[in-house]
Amino acid sequence: MRSSYLPYCRPSITDDEIAAVVGALRGGWLTTGPHAARLEREFESRAGVDYAVALSSCTAALHVALAAIGVGPGDEVVMPSLTFVAGAQCTVELGATPVFADVDPHTLSTTAETVRAATTQKTKAIVAMPYAGRPADIGSIVAYARERGIRVIEDAAHAAGMLDRGEWAGTRADAAAYSFYATKNLTTAEGGMLLTNDATIAERARLLSLHGMSRDAWKRYAAKGSWRYDVSEPGYKYNLADPLAALGLAQLQRLEAMQARREALAAQYLAGIEHIEGINVQAEVEYADDRHSWCMFVVQLDEDLAGPGRDACVEALARENIGASVHYIPTHVFSGYRRYMRDPLPYTEAVWQRLLSLPLYPAMNESDVDDVLGALRRALNAIIAGTYAMR
Ligand SMILES: Cc1ncc(COP(=O)(O)O)c(C=O)c1O
Repeated sequence: MRSSYLPYCRPSITDDEIAAVVGALRGGWLTTGPHAARLEREFESRAGVDYAVALSSCTAALHVALAAIGVGPGDEVVMPSLTFVAGAQCTVELGATPVFADVDPHTLSTTAETVRAATTQKTKAIVAMPYAGRPADIGSIVAYARERGIRVIEDAAHAAGMLDRGEWAGTRADAAAYSFYATKNLTTAEGGMLLTNDATIAERARLLSLHGMSRDAWKRYAAKGSWRYDVSEPGYKYNLADPLAALGLAQLQRLEAMQARREALAAQYLAGIEHIEGINVQAEVEYADDRHSWCMFVVQLDEDLAGPGRDACVEALARENIGASVHYIPTHVFSGYRRYMRDPLPYTEAVWQRLLSLPLYPAMNESDVDDVLGALRRALNAIIAGTYAMR
């Protein structure tokens, strides 16, 4: 057993990144300003999209994107239930109805087929989520949606570092919402980015993200700025503060290196798990030019170990000083969202009871992965033998 606790996640922050934040704090400008603008330009050029809008979270990006494409009362938005609650929450806030589509049990994302099954005449938008950063072939969902005049927003919370057929999330869908939350591949502590090639979405997202104001503070208080502004409609307060953007800019310089580290650790997990009974991994990427971001390393227990076996596994790892987690409790299971359950979601229901997320982040080393694999093997052997006693 490990002598020190291995947390489920731990951010990777270098001295250069700390210096970048300190530099921004000393620079005399704290709210959205030049660092946020630079982060946007960097995202535009790296992703190859026309517009990037820096925001306070991925949730904020999903909210303004859905608002910008006109989602409102009477509309339905199709999304997975096996995801974080953000997309459903924003849909409900806009007065529309979330409709849950089932997932492919191997990729853990929705597909063009599962989305089609959930679509009705009222469907205004589809929110697609590449689960754990495994590309989910957004091209086929977009192709299906285009034929019906439905818009597609990617929940790209896990997608920094991912390549879907060689491209960043946000190049094929109408827009993509990235997360810079503390556990993500690129962090600003809290933050997000909306990417789009659609000028109208970008313009409306920017307007809505700052109270509907015609000019942000940087433009009003800069040397040649004017104090006048208009508020053309009620909006939200979703802008990204400059010291956080400075952290994001510095992290972006290391994104490829952090990605390589995640890939090496994931490869070690995959090789080790082959020799552990009772457990399976997420489907491999489909195309040669796909790249998994490895935002999470998720395993599935065999069907006959579902539920109690998974919970025992989380507990057994904790007893061995290892943090693990479960992604996700499906949205339709929550008391506040049960009412949106419509058609049965057989794969979502079956699979979430067997899911287990293992620690995976650049600050880990090879012996950490060996510790997790050893603890997992011991836990599964005991669970399969029926000798594991839960507390
Ligand atoms: C799939 C998914 N969507 C959305 C979010 C929300 O991200 P944020 O915390 O940046 O709003 C998360 C965050 O964990 C997530 O995992």
